Amino acid sequence: MAPHLPPLLLVGCGQMGGALFSAWEQNGLAPSVVIDRHREAVPGAHSLVRSIDDIPKRFSPDVVILAVKPQNAAATITELATKRPDLLANGPVIISVMAGCTTRSLAGAFADTPAGSSPAIVRAMPNTPSAVGRGMTGLFAGTNVSAEQKALCDTLLGAVGATVWMDEEDQINILTAISGSGPAYVFLLAELLEQAAVGQGLSRDVARLLARKTITGAGELLDRMPEDAAQLRRNVTSPGGTTAEAISILNAPDNWPASVPEAVAAAIRRARELAA
Ligand SMILES: NC(=O)c1ccc[n+]([C@@H]2O[C@H](COP(=O)([O-])OP(=O)(O)OC[C@H]3O[C@@H](n4cnc5c(N)ncnc54)[C@H](OP(=O)(O)O)[C@@H]3O)[C@@H](O)[C@H]2O)c1
Repeated sequence: MAPHLPPLLLVGCGQMGGALFSAWEQNGLAPSVVIDRHREAVPGAHSLVRSIDDIPKRFSPDVVILAVKPQNAAATITELATKRPDLLANGPVIISVMAGCTTRSLAGAFADTPAGSSPAIVRAMPNTPSAVGRGMTGLFAGTNVSAEQKALCDTLLGAVGATVWMDEEDQINILTAISGSGPAYVFLLAELLEQAAVGQGLSRDVARLLARKTITGAGELLDRMPEDAAQLRRNVTSPGGTTAEAISILNAPDNWPASVPEAVAAAIRRARELAA
């Protein structure tokens, strides 16, 4: 049976908010009120509305999820606090999926609202595979978040994949560089494999099929098999064989072993700059 969800308000239903919403719907975890500026309101277990003005009166959420762009965070919080201060009055846990918005900056933005100067804030950093239920979400709890609220966050984000709690807020920047940005690194590999196959004379369609199926198949194997990635790699690398020839180039000390850590470090630096 699907777990029961307390009243929930989802603000922002774009790429990420929309992915969360559809995963919850598929899991029978219909949230109470969703603000989606681009969809027609539909009757149902949840209430889909176009703006804060349309949120039903006397609705009192236990969870408010902010899934707007970081640059819209302050305006959205002000709009909530001005138009519907009652929504923040009962101390809901506030889950922010907004990249670079620290618990401190969010607490500052909520300070003059009924949520008070130390609201319960959880930062969540999901990634795009959440859209197909294969996400990886890192979470960090600010002060005043109860064990029940953390369990609720696990249920909500667990509906779109795996979850892990970070002990320190800065670790969210590291996680962002690995699992947040990581899908883009894998897609780049798919692009490059496809281009290499075309460069060697295969048709675009066949090249694309080979690159896609190789990456999704290898990902599935990594997920299902008990062996670690290095062992799975060794399993396809016979000494003196074709894979060994390619791996000797990719795994040369100045190639991927140098560029991957460098790329990750650059992403972490940028995440820290954006969070400053
Ligand atoms: N996409 C990812 O891979 C990813 C991963 C992790 C975290 N995030 C975070 O998720 C957040 C959303 O990103 P996204 O890619 O989903 O952006 P998005 O597709 O632009 O979605 C944001 C949505 O929020 C709406 N919105 C803005 N202000 C609002 C308001 N006051 N009330 C109600 N709705 C409002 C926007 O409507 P309009 O279009 O009308 O402005 C838009 O539909 C960002 O903070 C991002 O850092 C994204």
